[in-house]
This record gives sequence, C-alpha cells and structure tokens, in this order.
Amino acid sequence: MTTTDQNASTDQETSTDQETSTTEVKLPPGPPIPRAIQGALAVANRRIALQILRRRYGSAFSLHLPIFGRMIVLSDPDDIRQLFRTGPDVADTTDANLGRVMGPNSLFALTGDRHRAQRKLMTPPFHGRRLAAFEAIVEREAVDEFATWPQDRTFATMPSMMRITLNVILRAVFGAEGQELERLREMLPPAIQLGSKLALIPVPQWDWGRWSPWGRFHQYRRDYDAIVDRLIDKAQADPDLDARDDVLSLMLQSRYEDGAPMTRAEIADELLTLLAAGHETTATTLAWAVERLQRHPQLLDRLNADLDNGSEELLHATILEIQRTRPVVDNTFRQVKAPTLQIGPWTFPQGQTIVASIGLLHADEAVFPDARRFDPDRFISRPPDPAEWIPYGGGVRRCIGAAFATMEIRVVLRTLLRDYVIRPASTRDERCQSRGVAIAPARGARVRIQPRRGSAAITAR
Ligand code: HEM
Repeated sequence: MTTTDQNASTDQETSTDQETSTTEVKLPPGPPIPRAIQGALAVANRRIALQILRRRYGSAFSLHLPIFGRMIVLSDPDDIRQLFRTGPDVADTTDANLGRVMGPNSLFALTGDRHRAQRKLMTPPFHGRRLAAFEAIVEREAVDEFATWPQDRTFATMPSMMRITLNVILRAVFGAEGQELERLREMLPPAIQLGSKLALIPVPQWDWGRWSPWGRFHQYRRDYDAIVDRLIDKAQADPDLDARDDVLSLMLQSRYEDGAPMTRAEIADELLTLLAAGHETTATTLAWAVERLQRHPQLLDRLNADLDNGSEELLHATILEIQRTRPVVDNTFRQVKAPTLQIGPWTFPQGQTIVASIGLLHADEAVFPDARRFDPDRFISRPPDPAEWIPYGGGVRRCIGAAFATMEIRVVLRTLLRDYVIRPASTRDERCQSRGVAIAPARGARVRIQPRRGSAAITAR
C-alpha cells in the first residue's frame, strides 16, 4: 500500500475509539508572557517562534494570541495521529472564514454528514486511472512554460510554477478551454488573493458598496458563477460527456446515495475550493524543488542518471524529502466539538483550537534523524510512516488532492530534468516567507538553466 492509500484509509475511521469525558481540563504549559507579545513574535516569524517554544516546553504547548485566543500546538506523531483519528463529532475544522469566501457548499465550510457525502463524490476524480489521464495536460503546460525561460541569466521560477498549476487546474479540473479558460485565467488569481485576505477578517455587518473589498469580491464571484454556468451548459450539451475526464464533468455525472445530483451551486463552490487549495500549494512545492535541487548538484546528477534509466524511484524520494523539509502548509487546525477531548496526558475543553504542527513534526530529530539535512535517501525503499510525514494533513480532512499534487509535481520535475540542466547555485538557501496560503522561498526560487543537449527544448528553439 502506498503512503497515499494508507493515509486515505483514515478517512473511513470514525470516533468510536475516541473517548470523551467530563474530567477536568488539563492543558500543556506555555509562555507566561502577555498575548500581545506572543502575537508579535508569531507575526515576526511564526516558524522560528514555534521552534523556540518546542525546545522550551516540549512537543505540546499552549499559545495565547490576539484575535485567535488560546491555541494548543501538538507536534508529537502519536498525539497528531490521535487528533487526526478523532471523528468530526469530536474534533473538526475550525470555524474559519475560508468557507464564507469559497461559498456555503465548499468542503472548507461543510461539516459532519454533508462534508462526508460531498467528499465521497469528489474523491474518485482524483485517483487511479483518472490521474493518469491528466499527465499529458501537465507535461504540455510545463513544456510550454519552460520554453519562455531565459537561458543567460538567473530568474525567479515561482511565477512560472503558479502559471503551470493554474492552467493545469483550469484544464483538468474545470475542463475549461477557449474564452472561458482565458477569462478564468485572468480573473481567478486576483480574486483568490483578495479572498484569502478577506478570509482572515470578519464579514462586515453592513454593505460598504461595490468598491469596498467585499463589494469587489462579490463582483468577482458573480462573474465566476456566470463562467462556471457556461462550462456546465457546454458539458451537459456534450454528447461525449461520459468519456470526459475533467473533474467538472465527473461531478456532473456523480450522484449522492439518494440518487440526487450535485447542484450547480455546489459544483461552483467546490471548483473554487479545489483551485484555491491546489493552485498555490502545488506551485510553491515546485518552487521549493527548484530551490533545493540546484543546491544539491550530486543529487541532480543521480536524478538525471536514474531518470535516463527509466526509474523514478529517486525522484519520488526527492519529492517526499522536499515536502518533509519545506512543507508549504506548516500547520493544520482542528476545534474540539465534544465536551472534552483527551490526547496523551492532556484534556482539552469544547471549543479549544488545536494546531497539528506539520513543520515541527517534520523537523523532529527523534522522528527524522539529522532532520535539518536534505537527504532523499532516507526515503529510498522506505516509504514514510503516514503518521510522521504529513504535508497533506490527515484524517477526514486530509487533502483530497494529495495524489493529484504528487502526480503534478512528479511530471513537472521529470519534464524539467529531461529537457534542461539546472546550474548549481552557490548562493545561500532561500528563506521561508509566508505568502498567506503557503510558505514560499523568499526570493521566488531563483535559478539558472540551460537546455539539455539533444532535448526537445533545444529542437523547439
Ligand atoms: C503540494 C500541494 C498540496 C499541499 C501541500 C496540500 C496540503 C493540504 C493540507 C495540509 C490540507 C488540510 C488537511 C487537514 O486539515 O488535515 C489540505 C486540504 C485540502 N486540499 Fe490540499 N494540498 C495540496 C494540493 C491540493 C490540490 C492539488 C487540491 C485539489 C485540486 C487540493 C485540495 C484540497 C481540499 C479540497 C482540501 C480540503 C479537504 C477537506 O476539508 O475535506 N489540495 N491540503
């Protein structure tokens, strides 16, 4: 069983083994400093602040932040496994604003039975034979984007990775082409950027007009809904609908257990959710791949030799290690829904926000010896334990696009290494910088490349 399969199987687990009790609340220790100072430290550098607290207080600690209140950070693999295994009636997503931005039918907004039912319909398009059908789209987008890259100077690759992953989602997920593709390509990046900022602040009680941030967002949303309506009309009129692989077509043909189809509003909200969740995260991971690879020339040589021999084993291990050392989503959140939740020696009260710290777990020396070292060999012939390697979170909320993202990263990197030589970099590692959704290389993953001799890239020029 692959890592993905093992993780996916936790989707089936319920809360039956999760004990809730009315015992006294018992929280892990935390810094005895005012919440304003804790907040300032977290804003200044969240990753470093968490690492310092981990060293001081151990794998579980409490934080007090302005606006967000008290949060419990967990980083021990057993504690996080236990958290992910709880059913949604015990601990589920936080009441984040993200759902209000994506729409009421978004997976981010749904809980309980509705979340489970919708996830069940949305999972098949992202697995097995379907994924293989998307590989050609990914390779085409990568080849076209790489052809625009300069060869005589260093440049930032992050914008290119954003374009590749946007186009892939619009084609493979939305099934968009022609005018609709152009329009979505134009409007969605600024709309998502605005939406992810708005998700952090409460919805205003009164209407500030069409030029206010919410007013502008609603205008984007009206335009978006009109385009998705056209895509649905076109798909429904297509005599070959059942032969199509795009996720929109599959959603249109899917049925809930009672035989009802997904509504247009549900499809529109979920497409937006998939784009918002899958576009920047995948692009940022690809940017980190470029940043890491050029600083490991021996690995690059081995990767090229391996790929030339038709093996992707080292590439697969390298992707695992990139996601371990540079997880682009470094924390995932749950809120206690049951009267109490017991994890390890701690008892958390209802309403408590709990953070599963992906970043801290992946940097734990006891879990990954020599954790700071970038060493893909640690995963050769040894797939990671799904409780320890968690860039896609876990349990009933685990990333639905994990297999899709892994395929996309693999195909883009394979195409890059096949057609180009990445020049080794002598500059310092790029710092981590929060972009809102994802943690990205601060300088945009700068690189210098040249076409590989005999590659398609040279022939095309
Ligand atoms: C490298 C790329 C990606 C990373 C690192 C990533 C990471 C994550 C994480 C950490 C979560 C939260 C899991 C939890 O709370 O336990 C998540 C949720 C989600 N992701 Fe991804 N993701 C990636 C790509 C994608 C792609 C390509 C798609 C779809 C096309 C996608 C769709 C989603 C959705 C819909 C959810 C919400 C699931 C739910 O609430 O049921 N992600 N992702």
